[in-house]
Amino acid sequence: MKIYKINYLLILGVLLFSYNATSAQQEQDIEDRITKIITKMTLEQKIGQLSLRGTSSRTKVLPEELKQDVRDGKVGAFLNVMKVDYVDELQKIAIEESPLGVPLIFSRDIIHGFKTIFPIPIGIAASWDKETAKTSARISAIEGSSYGIRWTFAPMLDIARDSRWGRIAESPGEDPYLASVLAKGYVEGFQTDNLTNPTSMAACAKHFIGYGAAIGGRDYNTAIIHEPLLRNVYLKPFEAALSSGVQTIMTSFNEVNGVPASGNKWLLTDVLRDEMNFDGFVVSDWNSVTEMINHGYAKDEKQAADLAVNAGLDMEMTSKSYEFYVKELIKEGKVKEDQIDFLVRNILRVKFKLGLFEKPYRSKTHTGDLYSEEHLTKAKTAAIKSTVLLKNESVLPLKMSAKIALIGPLANAPREQLGTWTFDGEKEHSVTPLKTFKDKRVSFKFSKGLSYSRDKSTGGFEAAIEAAKVSDVIVFIAGEEAILSGEAHSRANINLPGKQEELIKILAKTGKPIILVIMAGRPITITNIIDDVDAVLMAWHPGTMAGPAIYDILFGKKEPLGRLPVTWPKTAGQLPLFYNHKNTGRPSDAESFVQIDDIPVGAWQSSLGNTTHYLDAGFTPHFPFGYGLGYTTFKLEHLRLSKTEITESEELEVFVSLTNTGESAGEEVVQLYLQDKVGSLTRPVRQLRRFKRVRLNSGETRIVKFIINRKDLEFVNNSLKPVIEKGEFNVYVGQNSVSGLVKGFVLK
Ligand code: BGC
Repeated sequence: MKIYKINYLLILGVLLFSYNATSAQQEQDIEDRITKIITKMTLEQKIGQLSLRGTSSRTKVLPEELKQDVRDGKVGAFLNVMKVDYVDELQKIAIEESPLGVPLIFSRDIIHGFKTIFPIPIGIAASWDKETAKTSARISAIEGSSYGIRWTFAPMLDIARDSRWGRIAESPGEDPYLASVLAKGYVEGFQTDNLTNPTSMAACAKHFIGYGAAIGGRDYNTAIIHEPLLRNVYLKPFEAALSSGVQTIMTSFNEVNGVPASGNKWLLTDVLRDEMNFDGFVVSDWNSVTEMINHGYAKDEKQAADLAVNAGLDMEMTSKSYEFYVKELIKEGKVKEDQIDFLVRNILRVKFKLGLFEKPYRSKTHTGDLYSEEHLTKAKTAAIKSTVLLKNESVLPLKMSAKIALIGPLANAPREQLGTWTFDGEKEHSVTPLKTFKDKRVSFKFSKGLSYSRDKSTGGFEAAIEAAKVSDVIVFIAGEEAILSGEAHSRANINLPGKQEELIKILAKTGKPIILVIMAGRPITITNIIDDVDAVLMAWHPGTMAGPAIYDILFGKKEPLGRLPVTWPKTAGQLPLFYNHKNTGRPSDAESFVQIDDIPVGAWQSSLGNTTHYLDAGFTPHFPFGYGLGYTTFKLEHLRLSKTEITESEELEVFVSLTNTGESAGEEVVQLYLQDKVGSLTRPVRQLRRFKRVRLNSGETRIVKFIINRKDLEFVNNSLKPVIEKGEFNVYVGQNSVSGLVKGFVLK
């Protein structure tokens, strides 16, 4: 037995060694081939590799000059070439007619689906499920690569703590741990473990960095992030993407602490290359190189190019400062040709890894299985996993026999349910709730009441009230049109736009129960109407299969499985708002809270309550991070730690018993948070460190186990060193970020 074991280990060792040797050899071969190409390249051709060009979606005929530029080796990559024939044509020119036949790489924002649209990323984040992120990325890549696109500008990994920011829709939410789990899923899904596979795509972790910290949630705005925070929060999901081998990184539009990301040498070279060992390439965001002039960081395009090249930004998106000025900068000695060679090398390396030198053309037999049954089913499952049940006064699930009034501007809005960043998704393929109700022969009356989310007319109210009166229950599908979130679509008020609240209030007067389903790109403040409705489902923008997913949830064929990936505010005035905040010197609590209406008229100046809160909005969110109900109930008990004291090298086991106390089978997301009670840098009140989805039958109990190790206790301190500090910690295990059981341990 022992001999077998030794032999087995020996063989495994030999295999591993030869595998490492082969991959090291392959990597060396690639570097040698790159060297050969670079040696033959003219400076113009090198600069060409650094250029990412676009075509317009309205381009009817490929412009001759563009083709000539490709022929001359002046373009390295394309974005948004919308017609697949153009992809083929341009690649043919690059391979057959350009001086060195270097293949182009075609890119696009395939963010949450290509043709089959999955929930928007904040929805995917609500699934708290790496596999859902991975599946959405995999199917996006399979479909998109059939159009010759081998590079996507996803995943977006900007931590977002302010729901006014339109791009929260594209984000993984507010928590670095959850975002890191999702980042890995996305990268694995897009890239697979074999980049040369024609259905793989190079992923692009964006936006590097701090874009989500834009002041006041105003897009493109300034980010001020002190370095420990940058490292403890904003960099975390990027580290995760890198550990999964992400091939490209996009710089952000914003400045961080006074330096725009696209010209930030410290960020792009010292941190990304030297510390994080990134060996792919960095692309700017759209014109973000030349926007350094607006930032007041470069005086003209030439200086912008100088700053970006020397910072280590490999590829320039859409603006042309490299093309126009790098030659001159080299002549003047401001840029070294070695630096250009380095940037070219990074880009060619990714092209080699994608197998583009061997197989530059789109495979004609790879159809992408667009809208296949499998893809649609997976998109529907993802929508169910993303939907968060926020309130349920025993009205859900509905009985199959229920007579329903289907109302609301999003009930039949095929384009809107797809959400932001869906260049290729076609509304003709969207299955809306209305269509599903018809297909499933639900007993219902449809009266949308309002034509679109911002509609301020009351012309449709009467018919909606009539529909409600003859029904048992109202399903009101509310929300925001897709265009109200995403890039450059921040809002100062994040309530339901138009007259939606007014209509809901009028419908409530019929006495019929209301199920509010929200389709939106961000948390929507619903404090004004929460008491008028009996149930609230947050579906985000669920994608192509919104209708079937919502139908299954409404009628209890499936349980809504989502949990909030962001804190849900009562009012936009509370923003930014996030669970992993600091305790402050005067933490808020119910006892000390003074409500605005309780202040006596003529009260003398005093520090009311003496804690951190708003007199009107209080100190709690409407719903905390991690929150979400299901169709059954769960109880957590008997939290136990394997030790009460550990050393740095020891692991801590955490056990908790979970019981399904309801009447049906269901799933809970058990969440483990840590609190480092005293630090040389003050620590957040809680930090998510683990979570597990657990499915239990009614009455069933399971012991859920987590393991905590030294990495979970680490943080970057004020001297910018990763440290683990001895002292007391709390372990919270709960169903969201504010509830749960607690036990302490000491790190010796
Ligand atoms: C966005 C990026 C996107 C790029 C290309 C920019 O405006 O900020 O996220 O990838 O455009 O479409």
